[in-house]
Amino acid sequence: MSDAVDFTKRGAIGVITVNSPPVNALSAAVRDGLDAALKAGQADPDVKAMVLMGGGRTFIAGADITEFGKPPRGKPLHDVLHDIENSSKLIIAAIHGTALGGGLEVTLCCHYRYAVPAALVGLPEVKLGLLPGAGGTQRLPRLVGVPKALDLVTSGDFVPAPQALELGIIDEMGGELLEGAVAYAEKLVADGAPLRKIRDMPCQAENGVFEAYRKANARKFRGFLAPWKNIDCIEAAATLDFDAGMARERELFNDCMISPESAAQRHVFFAEREVAKIPDVPKGTPMKEVKKVAMIGAGTMGGGIAMNFANAGIPVLMVEMADEALARGMAIIKRNYQNTVNKGRLSQEKMDQRMALFSTTTDYADIGDADLVIEAVFEKMELKKEIFAKLDAYAKPGAVLASNTSTLSIDEIASATKRSESVIGMHFFSPANVMRLLEVVAMGIGRKVGKISVLVGNCFGFVGNRMLHGYTGEGTFLLESGALPQQVDGAIYNFGLAMGPFAMGDMAGLDVGWLVRKAKAADRPTNEEYGGTIPDRICELGRFGQKTAGGYYDYKEGDRTPIPNPEVQAIIEQVSKDKNITRTDFDDDEIIKRALYPLINIGAQILDEGMAMRPSDIDIIYINGYGFPAHKGGPMHWADAIGLDKVLADMKRFHAELGERWRPAPLLEKLVADGKSFAELQAG
Ligand code: 3HC
Ligand code: NAI
Repeated sequence: MSDAVDFTKRGAIGVITVNSPPVNALSAAVRDGLDAALKAGQADPDVKAMVLMGGGRTFIAGADITEFGKPPRGKPLHDVLHDIENSSKLIIAAIHGTALGGGLEVTLCCHYRYAVPAALVGLPEVKLGLLPGAGGTQRLPRLVGVPKALDLVTSGDFVPAPQALELGIIDEMGGELLEGAVAYAEKLVADGAPLRKIRDMPCQAENGVFEAYRKANARKFRGFLAPWKNIDCIEAAATLDFDAGMARERELFNDCMISPESAAQRHVFFAEREVAKIPDVPKGTPMKEVKKVAMIGAGTMGGGIAMNFANAGIPVLMVEMADEALARGMAIIKRNYQNTVNKGRLSQEKMDQRMALFSTTTDYADIGDADLVIEAVFEKMELKKEIFAKLDAYAKPGAVLASNTSTLSIDEIASATKRSESVIGMHFFSPANVMRLLEVVAMGIGRKVGKISVLVGNCFGFVGNRMLHGYTGEGTFLLESGALPQQVDGAIYNFGLAMGPFAMGDMAGLDVGWLVRKAKAADRPTNEEYGGTIPDRICELGRFGQKTAGGYYDYKEGDRTPIPNPEVQAIIEQVSKDKNITRTDFDDDEIIKRALYPLINIGAQILDEGMAMRPSDIDIIYINGYGFPAHKGGPMHWADAIGLDKVLADMKRFHAELGERWRPAPLLEKLVADGKSFAELQAG
């Protein structure tokens, strides 16, 4: 028998166990091992039924993604599944951990499914730009009905075992994995349970469901390929016979597999895992345990950050200057949780537990037992230094002192203490209780509170915001050259971002950037480099965005829909005139290049300076912090997909037309000269 799968016996029940760490993916070795184990079970006259389970921490997490795009080896998955479904002896799947993708598809070919309560099942292929290619789209709707199947395959959501039991995805739930499954198998044998095949069940859909579903989700799925193909497959299940449906699934699976969207999303999957790896910090390095957090500042960011810790069960002490500020901050936290409870996404009991983890003080002496202190007060260097001197005085030895500053130097902040080695930057993104990204200027606790942490260097704006300035700045230069805000925002939205730079500016508040530009610090870009002329004039009118009912756009009370404003258009045209720029027309393609190529160029500079460790880290920052579409794989992967030589040629054209801000980064020039991509640079 192979190492990857073993076969043992418990009385009359054969037990097939997949042992292929870390997640028992269906590699060639596993498929061949399953084949051999099935044959052993069939051949043994004492074996009346078989249990199929995963060894280690999980059932099967799916096809082996690392095999995608490589020449096929081993027994094909479809053949293994065929043998399971057509076995003359009962086969019962026993699920713990996660049964995902091809893993769940294996269980759907078994005759019955047993799971422990903590197990999760799902078809997450859509997140990789794919669809379940081993019968999942044909069998799942036969079990759960078309509407539920549509939701599950297009979201890729995991379903907890108790809910899977209700839906009929699993047949039996019990505490002990092996003992429970064997007992269940013995009972099925004793009862003479039939060899139940999902393929023989009917699948029906009401008239018009597919069209209605496509229409209702058009906005959400824009730019992605896989959700649409998943819907097509479920439609095939409801309209074709089983074998024709399977053929259709195979055909559409191949369409997805060769698509650039899937290449981008698979890149993102591995990039998210790569990001956690730091060469100087090998796997298994002991981590400081964080048992208590002190949060300095209970404002917009402080409140949101604190919620992440309470959500992870870690007590938080909120520190403010005055009781009123504490009361205000706590009221907002409570309201946020209450909203989640009202939407049915959190139980009242959980909310009460989380609220009970908060305590408050105005006395810095109370922070003495915190393992991690995070500062999120106003963005002023003098204030931050004053606070860090106090933290130095009151925090216990070994405590980590973090600042959430978005632009200030961590090294300078640390100089206010006598323990600069304990001072780090932890840059959360707004709204901090929602956005998945955390930029860490030194690494650690992020994963525990459910964040994707990226290690970045100490430079102006760190990584994300430094690149953002290039993008928002170029957006306003586009206005000077002839475009209008709605046109730029429209092109960016269609590209796949949640919104364009001007709608974003109006949401964040234009006054923030205005204040930063007015401060004109020596180490920062000049007002002209920011593209500051137009936003300055808009701010001078008191138009700060949504909070003042107008910025680049107007807004109706209680409505976030941007409405173009003629006064703003007049300002834009006036600025072009003042600068002697002849306004020209742009198509969307040119707008995308002008607005988004700065991300690539600045990204290349950041890599050159070592401020980010890998191109794929930058992709993760942009997807999770700024809503760059996953189907484009992040700015660096997108550049590779276009071809760096083409990107460079356009940048050179912009450099000649528009000046120094478009000088191509030396790294980009070098990669093109060497005929290399960012991915090849990363691979070394
Ligand atoms: N194939 C190959 N490697 C995989 C894998 C897979 N399906 N799933 C996970 N891995 C690897 C990861 O890359 C990681 O490797 P590393 O340690 O070298 O970085 C390791 O397994 C552990 O993974 P995580 O760090 O993600 O561990 P977690 O415990 O946090 O999460 C998980 C486990 C929930 C299983 C998560 O890894 C996951 O969501 N995996 C992907 C599941 C998936 O998408 N399955 C569908 C695959 S496509 C398919 O099945 C097609 C079929 O329909 C034909
Ligand atoms: P905010 O103005 O909402 O909150 C600041 C809070 O700090 C106020 O409640 C204030 O009372 C309190 N405070 C001031 N001095 C204090 C002191 N000496 N001791 C205790 N509390 C004090 O500001 P916001 O937006 O939360 O920003 C905080 C920090 O987070 C800034 O450094 C900012 O650059 C950074 N940041 C902000 C983001 C955003 O989108 N708003 C995103 C990422 C970082």
